[in-house]
Amino acid sequence: MEIIHISAECYPAAKVGGLADVVGSLPKYQTLMGHQSTVIMPFYHGKFSRENEFSNIFSGVARLGHANFAFNVLKFQKNQLGYELYLFDIPGLFDRENVYSYKDDTERFITFQIAVLNWLKERKETPDVVHCHDQQTGFIPFLMSKVREYQRFEHVPTVFTIHNGQYQGQFGFEKLYYLPPFHSYYNGLIEWHNLINPLASAIKCAWKVTTVSPSYLDEISHSMNGMEDLLRTERGKSLGILNGIDADVWNPETDPMLEKNFNTKTFEEGKKANKEMLCTQFGLDPNKPLFTFIGRLVGEKGADILPGIIYDVLHYKPGEQNILILGSGEKHIEHALLHLEDQFKGNYCSYIGYNEKLSHLIYAGADFLLMPSRVEPCGLNQMYALRYGTIPVVRRTGGLRDTVTDIGDHGFGVCHDQCTISDVTHAIHRAKHICREKRTFKRIRKQIMEIDHSWNRAALEYIELYQSLKL
Ligand code: ADP
Ligand code: GLC
Repeated sequence: MEIIHISAECYPAAKVGGLADVVGSLPKYQTLMGHQSTVIMPFYHGKFSRENEFSNIFSGVARLGHANFAFNVLKFQKNQLGYELYLFDIPGLFDRENVYSYKDDTERFITFQIAVLNWLKERKETPDVVHCHDQQTGFIPFLMSKVREYQRFEHVPTVFTIHNGQYQGQFGFEKLYYLPPFHSYYNGLIEWHNLINPLASAIKCAWKVTTVSPSYLDEISHSMNGMEDLLRTERGKSLGILNGIDADVWNPETDPMLEKNFNTKTFEEGKKANKEMLCTQFGLDPNKPLFTFIGRLVGEKGADILPGIIYDVLHYKPGEQNILILGSGEKHIEHALLHLEDQFKGNYCSYIGYNEKLSHLIYAGADFLLMPSRVEPCGLNQMYALRYGTIPVVRRTGGLRDTVTDIGDHGFGVCHDQCTISDVTHAIHRAKHICREKRTFKRIRKQIMEIDHSWNRAALEYIELYQSLKL
């Protein structure tokens, strides 16, 4: 079947977080299963667009309110991704370096969605399913089913995946004219709490709604920025499918970004070499347990409590462990993390910024990965950590609850219930016990590397879901 994924991010073309990893790998696994899985995304003017070649396969116009935007559909030339990638070049809106956080994001992503449907309309083929990801593509199910211009797609099944319900993309009705004309009795399908809300619209109009873990679906029915009622109403067509990981990209045996590759037989020497490399780079002692954090420095990830955790752990138990942080985000968190470096020199360091290579090295060289998330729809970091023999220390929430079992429950990780400094500090002290028991430590590291979190299972679950929608 022909599956079309539409997303704002896709690794390696543009990545802000896990959405890119998912959209960049699920289609590959679906293609390997014999389907034609394609990705459509905007063409940002970043490193990827500068360093690669594309062929222009279509030129058209997308109308946003009273303005017309010319667009080009570019096809990624290299056949290395395992699926076809189409990028929408929309001068004036997407010829910028970053993915989000511009004042006109509403205008940008509505135009993108209109351009995508304008192109799909011109093609001879009709897709078997259109799979949209997050609010930046949230109007597509509505446009396909209720707007005359796109009537051709009325019977094409749509699946919408909520990767992160915190971001809803809502705006006022004064911008209603941005959307192509439709009958006003459909206004309710784009509205939530008196605002136009693309996330709510997708939840209402998509044939199926998925979340990226089963626990997250349960949680958002009780707490999601005022959208709980809607999720409860639409629960019948919703399901949680736990994300997978790209086991080719995230493979410690072949990963070109590591200092030394390793597998389940050689992990002790392999992890040691990567840890030594990291510790040399950051002035830490490789003989101490290394606790790490990788991620966006935002409240959702519990990053605001990291400075407090670092202070408590290193002030009260100095010399027992090292801490290394990689991330970027809210400035006050970045400053607080940098500020602590002088005080705990030799035991703690942080790298503020985005660094793909360093992240791989940390997954490989760390002993533990901290994820104190307040909200975690799925979380990929813990799955990468597991594959690289690094023990996750996680808060029981969302996808973390679905992927990490506490060592006290015959599992392999360290879990805690609250996103608080004291809970995480306690979890860190429990984790150090594992480290001291050398045989247990070795057994767990081997065991976690053997867990299969690749996309094989989830890609099939999605295919079964699409097939259930065939008319
Ligand atoms: P989210 O999408 O909410 O940020 P995920 O756990 O799903 O969280 O995915 C985060 C992805 O982004 C992972 O691939 C992680 O390694 C990567 N990542 C996050 N912050 C950084 C950073 N500062 N440098 C490199 N990679 C990062
Ligand atoms: C979101 C979520 C994260 C999830 C990712 C991929 O960004 O915050 O938990 O892993 O999407 O689905």
